[in-house]
Amino acid sequence: MALLEKANGELLTEIDDIADILLPAGVSLESWPVLRTSELKTLLSSPGLTDAEKEAVLSGCDVYFNRLRESLGYQSRDLVVLFPETPGLDDLLAKFHQIHFHEDDEVRYILDGEGVFGFVLPGGEQVALLVEPGDFIHVPKNVEHWFHLTAKRRIKAVRYFTSTAGWVPVYTETRLMLTHPFS
Ligand SMILES: [Fe+2]
Repeated sequence: MALLEKANGELLTEIDDIADILLPAGVSLESWPVLRTSELKTLLSSPGLTDAEKEAVLSGCDVYFNRLRESLGYQSRDLVVLFPETPGLDDLLAKFHQIHFHEDDEVRYILDGEGVFGFVLPGGEQVALLVEPGDFIHVPKNVEHWFHLTAKRRIKAVRYFTSTAGWVPVYTETRLMLTHPFS
């Protein structure tokens, strides 16, 4: 279940309260149960996965992908798997731990581990959102945000795309003020 930390240190734990804070930025957060079949449980407990295992995880969650495809026209999905031994993990994370936006929506469904999304709200306030298994997040295009892992340095998340062209980060000049949320 997600947690939101405001710039003044206040912590919000209720999904409705968190959704209210994120609404002005157009960011939506929902809770989708992770389907815990025994195969999925085994795969999600493993730090790394082969391509075939990733596809098995994705297939196991396709009830959600099919819903997004039918309602919003999503075309594809893939699975991000990061864990402490992932080659080049620090370089990869550094790319997203700077404030940026994308020219397409960033849509993620967290299956394992945890991560922190930060957002710049329309008034300039910065907030940090801890996402955990079952959290589905939709960040609209052009919304300034950042992302990093927690000290666990582990996450598995489905990414949903209408196209793959728009998700390259476009960096902005906004200074990151919330440097150590959830530490
Ligand atoms: Fe991003």
